[in-house]
Amino acid sequence: MDIKVPRGTQDILPSETGKWQVVEELIRETCRMYQYKEIRTPIFEHTELFTRSVGDTTDIVQKEMYTFQDRGDRSLTLRPEGTASAVRAFVEHKMFGYPDQPVKLYYMGPMFRYERQQAGRYRQFVQFGIEAIGSADPAIDAEVISLAMSVYQKAGLKKLKLVINSLGDTESRVAHKEALVNHFEPHIAEFCSDCQNRLQKNPLRILDCKVDRNHPLMATAPSLTDYLNEESAAYFEKVKEYLSLLNIPYEVDPNLVRGLDYYNHTAFEIMSTAEGFGAITTLAGGGRYNGLVEELGGPASPGIGFAMSIERLLLAVEAENNKWADLSTLDVYVIGMGEAAKKKAVELTYELRNNEITAEMDYLDRKIKTQMKSADRLKAKLVLVIGDDELEKQSAMLKDLATGEQQLVPFSTLIEQVKISITTQVEAKEQ
Ligand code: HAM
Repeated sequence: MDIKVPRGTQDILPSETGKWQVVEELIRETCRMYQYKEIRTPIFEHTELFTRSVGDTTDIVQKEMYTFQDRGDRSLTLRPEGTASAVRAFVEHKMFGYPDQPVKLYYMGPMFRYERQQAGRYRQFVQFGIEAIGSADPAIDAEVISLAMSVYQKAGLKKLKLVINSLGDTESRVAHKEALVNHFEPHIAEFCSDCQNRLQKNPLRILDCKVDRNHPLMATAPSLTDYLNEESAAYFEKVKEYLSLLNIPYEVDPNLVRGLDYYNHTAFEIMSTAEGFGAITTLAGGGRYNGLVEELGGPASPGIGFAMSIERLLLAVEAENNKWADLSTLDVYVIGMGEAAKKKAVELTYELRNNEITAEMDYLDRKIKTQMKSADRLKAKLVLVIGDDELEKQSAMLKDLATGEQQLVPFSTLIEQVKISITTQVEAKEQ
């Protein structure tokens, strides 16, 4: 068969899923600490949701969406990101009326973008993201950023860089937009057709253009920082103060504009500075979106959030050469030699599992030596061997694979002894 996974997608094989589960667990635990609650929204949405929120001049909407007509002739799109769906649900379910504001949500699931595949860039990837909707307190900007940093730190990453910027409020942006149009207009013919389209609609996007990034006018373009009005500048100062209070180091980059249209005020990205991480160094991105709830039909409710892909997190862990904790979870490998002992092995394996002890056995009638090799490969903590001799004594030979010690244990106390041996081995390892 020559059917392979579609370009830009990947199978995550059993040897890899352990790491994913560790990360997912760590993320859910962090969200619990910070009191963000999970929301699950559909994988596809009405296309209009993304054109209205992410923005119809962005690369995501113009080039990267998986859009299709369903049989009822509706235009639907596989979600390229999670903020639009979270905000749609916030409006649709009137979460603005919840007594506890801001509403703090998180999501984790596949997103789809038709991008050129390279290391760290996929067409289907898993995003973990959070959204805090209903507060314009700069302290929550710091909370959102600190949650992202905390996830990376718990995953063992040290080589991180946080870059922040302020995109200002509407007034600041209008002033900046005018300055950008004046700057680029006389030479716009030298730019790509996308940039020409962006000039009037959304000149900020020009600064994000991958084609024209080396054009001399890019470096001299008016910076948003110089156009922030007093209120926006004061807000940005407070966000920085809170980050300092939490001892979170950051760099301000006035050129950080982000690739989605809904942002204003705080924008940020977290990069990996690990050598060998590859060309794409952005691990996570996010920012404030104070007009988005209104844009999608709700009452004015300010919001902020971020998203990160799990794939890039795992790549960063690898680039820093961090080892995952021993992901093996097999406690006991049960070996039954001979027909009668085999029956006992089946019974015992079942009993162990019912006692919250992970257990595995052989289903290929292999030799004892081969089964022992399996136990080693599976990193079992203990092996139980039952042959005719043991059966006669109503006992099993319990072998500790860490120390090599063996003891004959009666069936009547076997579960108890297995539990003790596991605990002893785990404690010895931890010391
Ligand atoms: P974004 O910058 O488009 O923002 O994506 C956020 C993160 O998703 C990236 O930093 C990266 O980790 C991951 N990502 C994006 N595209 C790919 C890809 N093709 N392959 C692998 N990973 C990818 C957003 O999506 C916003 N919704 C973030 C946000 C939430 N802003 C406010 N709230």
